Amino acid sequence: MTVVVEAQKLQKKYNDFEAVAGIDFHIHRGECFGILGPNGAGKTTVVAMIYCFNPISGGKLTVLGNDVTVDTRSIKTRLGVVPQENNLDLELTVRENLLVYASYYGIRRSEAHKRAEELLHFFSLSTKADQEVDRISGGMKRRLTIARGLIHTPEILILDEPTTGLDPQSRRLIWEHLRQLKNKGLTLILTTHYLEEASQLCDELIIMDQGIILEQGKPLDLIQKQVGAKVVEVEINLEHSQALVHTLEHLISGYQLAGNTIYLYITEDETEAVKIISSCKHVHTYRLRPSNLEDVFLKLTGRGLDYAEDTMDFTDPKKIGHLL
Ligand SMILES: Nc1ncnc2c1ncn2[C@@H]1O[C@H](COP(=O)(O)OP(=O)(O)OP(=O)(O)O)[C@@H](O)[C@H]1O
Ligand SMILES: [Mg+2]
Repeated sequence: MTVVVEAQKLQKKYNDFEAVAGIDFHIHRGECFGILGPNGAGKTTVVAMIYCFNPISGGKLTVLGNDVTVDTRSIKTRLGVVPQENNLDLELTVRENLLVYASYYGIRRSEAHKRAEELLHFFSLSTKADQEVDRISGGMKRRLTIARGLIHTPEILILDEPTTGLDPQSRRLIWEHLRQLKNKGLTLILTTHYLEEASQLCDELIIMDQGIILEQGKPLDLIQKQVGAKVVEVEINLEHSQALVHTLEHLISGYQLAGNTIYLYITEDETEAVKIISSCKHVHTYRLRPSNLEDVFLKLTGRGLDYAEDTMDFTDPKKIGHLL
């Protein structure tokens, strides 16, 4: 498979602060490559270096065979970009937003019109073509931003948090469109802090936190490697959790504590594990379920991925009481 992006010891410093700390990864043509991580992980910084918006501070970064420090212009024309914040022209209509962008790339007017209509159709925006952008919904704006990123038929589409802030239905619609683009052979690079988005769409992932890569690989392989197939979530008073972990030692590969919940990574006989857990009188509730990327992130960092948005910060000892 052809490598289309290659980063070696890639570094980004903002003055003295190292936002990306010498990371290595490569992306193959035709795959959906995900950069997963919480707020401030360095996701936007990484993609902005790929699309030559942010100069690199160290290491080497090659995009479509070109060095980002040398061939910026040629890289930019072959990439489509969907930035984290929509930057559509609100006073123009939906169609005009596409046409203006096409003119930046020097696309002939008739060709631009043809592509705009195709993209409007593909993204279910045809009925809104003559509407001013500030009058369409958030999900439609996002779809239009993606359509705009495709107007010059790029080889790679970079999407920085394509669905953040959207309702679940709009999010799923965008996933469906991205899946179709991938099936047509387009290479996608997307950043996200939604685990479901990463597991639904991405063939390959890097999990980032504070400028470094914690893990990389295929979503299912990462889950299998880090936590195994099954997890039991157990709610128990903290003072009894260590004893329970000790009893289950031969059946688990590890565990993580978050608040009053222990996440037990089951490797052996799950029936036996559940039997032990259900007979422990200090257990309030328990749930056996398939493992997911959240478990991987929690195991790697000791905290939840969406902590900044809707869950607590498990790193704060005051919030979780006494650790084991
Ligand atoms: N222009 C800048 N100047 C100084 N620091 C910056 C700048 N841009 C980003 N940073 C810092 O670099 C780190 C990584 O930021 P970045 O925007 O890449 O994170 P992110 O993973 O995209 O986060 P989010 O999920 O919030 O979008 C953060 O600590 C951020 O404050
Ligand atoms: Mg970002």
